[in-house]
Amino acid sequence: MSDTTAKTPRKILVTSALPYANGPIHLGHMLEYIQTDIWVRFQKQKGEICTYVCADDAHGTAIMLKAEQQNITPEELIEKVKQDHLEDFESFSIDFDNYYSTHSKENKQLSELIYKSCLDRGHIAEREITQAYDPEKELFLADRFIKGSCPRCKTADQYGDNCESCGATYDATELIDPKSTLSGTTPVEKKSTHHFFKLPDFEEMLRQWTRSGSLQESVANKLAEWLDAGLKEWDISRDAPYFGFEIPGLKGKYFYVWLDAPIGYMASFKNLCDQREDLDFSEYWDKDSTTELYHFIGKDIINFHALFWPAMLSCADFRVPTGVKAHGFVTVNGKKMSKSRGTFIKARTYLNHMNPEYLRYYFAAKLSSGTEDLDLNLDDFMSRVNSDLVGKVVNIASRCAGFINKLFNSQTSSECSEPELVNEFIKAGDSIAQHYENLDYSKAIREIMALADQANQYINEQKPWALIKETGRETDVQEVCSVGLNLFRLLMIYLKPVLPVTASHAEQFLNISPALWEDRSYILLGHRINTFQPLISRIEKQHIETMMDESAADVIKESQMAKPAISTSTPVDPLAQEIQFEDFAKVDLRIVKIIKAVDVEGADKLLQLTLDLGDTFGDKRLRQVFAGIKSAYQPEQLEGRHTVMVANLAPRKMRFGVSDGMVLAAGPGNQDIWLLEPDEGALPGMRIK
Ligand code: 2FM
Ligand code: ZN
Repeated sequence: MSDTTAKTPRKILVTSALPYANGPIHLGHMLEYIQTDIWVRFQKQKGEICTYVCADDAHGTAIMLKAEQQNITPEELIEKVKQDHLEDFESFSIDFDNYYSTHSKENKQLSELIYKSCLDRGHIAEREITQAYDPEKELFLADRFIKGSCPRCKTADQYGDNCESCGATYDATELIDPKSTLSGTTPVEKKSTHHFFKLPDFEEMLRQWTRSGSLQESVANKLAEWLDAGLKEWDISRDAPYFGFEIPGLKGKYFYVWLDAPIGYMASFKNLCDQREDLDFSEYWDKDSTTELYHFIGKDIINFHALFWPAMLSCADFRVPTGVKAHGFVTVNGKKMSKSRGTFIKARTYLNHMNPEYLRYYFAAKLSSGTEDLDLNLDDFMSRVNSDLVGKVVNIASRCAGFINKLFNSQTSSECSEPELVNEFIKAGDSIAQHYENLDYSKAIREIMALADQANQYINEQKPWALIKETGRETDVQEVCSVGLNLFRLLMIYLKPVLPVTASHAEQFLNISPALWEDRSYILLGHRINTFQPLISRIEKQHIETMMDESAADVIKESQMAKPAISTSTPVDPLAQEIQFEDFAKVDLRIVKIIKAVDVEGADKLLQLTLDLGDTFGDKRLRQVFAGIKSAYQPEQLEGRHTVMVANLAPRKMRFGVSDGMVLAAGPGNQDIWLLEPDEGALPGMRIK
């Protein structure tokens, strides 16, 4: 990327990957939007002309099926999901200049245009292929819609392309006893004519482009491997029924969702240009464009952005991207985000409990320009936010503001008593800017926090609280606190791309207009500030715990909604007969926490409980259990309480769902039923002996 001190503003178009319109935004997604948003905000703060566009990725079989499942049209589904996505993005201060949908007239037009250019230039091939077909659903099946036993290790319930147990890759046709996940029927083989983009025609162009500095080194190396292995033609057509754009001239054939998805970047920008006089579509997309174009993506979709996409663009005489910026995945507490572990955290669930700026800060503090994964360690998250933002940065303002507000009529001193210190802070802005530019946010944050330490140290040494007690030292106190506030202001200028809301509150407090990067070069002298209000509060452990509980409960709710009702079988009464000690020893009694309790519709006596058995239970940590205790307890009395359960009872199918264990209660019945409650200090997962 070019020099950060350039005078003529750069013209930059930036995109983040388009989220699918069939599910909620989660924290894995948020890493990318936060990374991109910080970069865009930084460019804008520097005065560059930077435009950030995105859209929902609205096409494909998965969206068509999801709409069918919900009994609505795909159009209704994608509209609803888009609104949810927008609310989440807005809450996290992701400041798109335009957020659109790939299901748009602009995208249809541009997809057709690019396809036709490829066709006219002889880069589209056509041939018949054989695919798995679901005769009941009358649908060709992608690999993820077929399951069977692995042909190598025989593990059951594996997807049609690879085995999660032994890692084998294979064709869906090789699966033992394959079944369509949509209908349960055995797929048949069926022929159909498909249309292919002749990617090998672009090998030379791609070799050049991938080595032109447009990719991170590790990504360019990966690309070189793929290029050396030989490129394959890319299947860009799908048969009806499909939710997408029909291919011009080919009845019943649709563009594969991955063809029109990246074109959605252009379409969103086109839609914006039609609303804004200062943006010209051709200036940004013509072959000879001098503007910059960057795509921020996850490392799993590099092939689409660094092979097919530049090839298609060049084929249709458009410019190619200046850069593709790939990042790694989010892990939670060191492990892949997982629904069964309860670590699949939706953006909305996070927002229900915590300030979005905490997460923006934590991601920034850990992001580098590479593709390694980023671990959201929840303890580290809490201590880092509390110690850096609350303990260091905001602390500077709160230590100084009181004196200025109360004793000096909110007026800072007219002289700067520490020009060298302040200048050091101003100068540090050069290297911090370079780190932002290079996507090395963790380095930027490290430098900013080192400055915050210095500022606190200065206040510690000067001790305005002691000075004020000495006669005739008022001016010194005003000067020390004014230096402190100026240092705080500089830190907030540097943190503004990461913490836009806190920075704006700080600007209000400091009584200054929105600060640009170069506003760091002057300082506030003889300036009236406003009354200090706490800018950011500490994270409490409880907030994190309730967020995790809610995430776990969400997963259970979703799985119930997704599964068809399970057939009735009457629960068997326990037999009142003597058992041997060995029988008793088999019973695994555990302390559990009730994280959710709800009424069961249609059941007079049952409550549905979601129980947390603690870390050591891994995938079986969260259990859903039906308990006949409704006559004695209101659901809201139970949430958050601990009780005892039989953790190794085989799951039982009941009329309302599966009960996976049993909670222990005693009493004659009706209101006189008591759940067993362990003593305080007992933790989920503890075994009862
Ligand atoms: O992987 C995904 O979630 C895709 N929806 C990303 C599309 S990015 C772009 F190419 F549109
Ligand atoms: Zn296997």
